[in-house]
Amino acid sequence: MMPRKLTLKSMKKRLIYNISRIEGILESGQKVLRGEEMQSMSSLEDAWLLIQDDLIADYGKMSAPYQAEVDEHIDAKKGLVLPSYCDSHSHLVFAQGRELEFEDRIKGLSYEEIAARGGGILNSVDTLRAMSEEELFQRSSKRAWELIRTGTAALEIKSGYGLDVESEMKILRVAKRIGKELPLTVKTTFLGAHAFPKEFEDDPDAYVDLIIKNMIPAIAAEGLADYIDVFCERGYFDKIQMEQIILAGMEHGMRPKVHVNQFSSIGGLQVALKHNALSVDHLEVMTDHDLADVCSSETIATALPACSFFIKIPYAPGRQIIDEGGILALATDFNPGSSPCSDMNFVMSLACIQMGLSPQEALAAATLNGAAAMELSEKMGSISKGKMANLIITDPMLQLAQIPYYFSRHVVSQVIIEGKSWN
Ligand code: NIG
Ligand code: FE
Repeated sequence: MMPRKLTLKSMKKRLIYNISRIEGILESGQKVLRGEEMQSMSSLEDAWLLIQDDLIADYGKMSAPYQAEVDEHIDAKKGLVLPSYCDSHSHLVFAQGRELEFEDRIKGLSYEEIAARGGGILNSVDTLRAMSEEELFQRSSKRAWELIRTGTAALEIKSGYGLDVESEMKILRVAKRIGKELPLTVKTTFLGAHAFPKEFEDDPDAYVDLIIKNMIPAIAAEGLADYIDVFCERGYFDKIQMEQIILAGMEHGMRPKVHVNQFSSIGGLQVALKHNALSVDHLEVMTDHDLADVCSSETIATALPACSFFIKIPYAPGRQIIDEGGILALATDFNPGSSPCSDMNFVMSLACIQMGLSPQEALAAATLNGAAAMELSEKMGSISKGKMANLIITDPMLQLAQIPYYFSRHVVSQVIIEGKSWN
């Protein structure tokens, strides 16, 4: 028998020491936390954590220090160590912000009124169509670096500002390239059904047809999208169109992950649940029936409180979703019109202050459940031995509550992704 060739992999060990508290520990193997389980991630005071290559290898108390040799020491300087954020809903790839509509909104026009005047999503479509793929990549990757520095290590990115075959594919290619070139795990979602483009104003069904017959097959052929999304809303896509589109996406292997109940409850939520959607997102306007349906399902309810804050609409009933046993995730909804915010620390603050979550629940929603809403929670989203070493080290502080409490303060001191430092 031929001797087996040994490949010796260099095992790099990095030891984080002087940690005031590790938060977000979970060794049960649960891939998602629902209802009261969202309080169950544990913490360890005065601790160290060992990274081996790109994984979390071990952790323990400083009173029982790690004894073996390591390649590198990282001083946490009495900061917290948390799992990196997993932001499961964003529209990161856009051409430019819509600051020009800002003053109209300040004067009292609503998000819907601005859209009805030709602003809103269609305004972003015009600027995106006119921009080269390279320029779009440069602008979007700059935004991605910013959010990495605030502690996010996994991000879902939607299309939806192209609304024609080529422009939608351009967005998704840019999103994929960000995932390849930056230290960020990216999942992509096709949102051709974000609005009806001007050229289909008088024939919306023809646009639904274009999505189903042209866009989805072309995007699937290039492997550009993991999920299918529809903005199911008054004045946008109704539940019948939504069902046709998600079925077409599912035939091409894209699981539904949808925008529902932002301004009205028109049945999209139930259609999504019927087709085993991975997540239903927004949920600002919910009937008792909607709430009961989502809480008794396996579908993740994703709240986007920065959108509620920015366009002054109600907050999703996060407290009730947890109390009724649902699975709640938090995400930024980062986009140029309704949520120009990519900072999950601020989202944590809003979840605690405006939605009534405890800091522990907000962390579970922003990490493990966010990872689950991108089908990534087997390898990230908590401090668990064997999971990816995606970690945040904060400024010196004693407890998790200090992150949401000091809202808008920059608290992330070091970012570690796949075992490497990025600042
Ligand atoms: O999730 N509601 C639909 N889509 C986005 C807003 C997009 C935009 O205004 O550009 C959202 O809020
Ligand atoms: Fe959105």
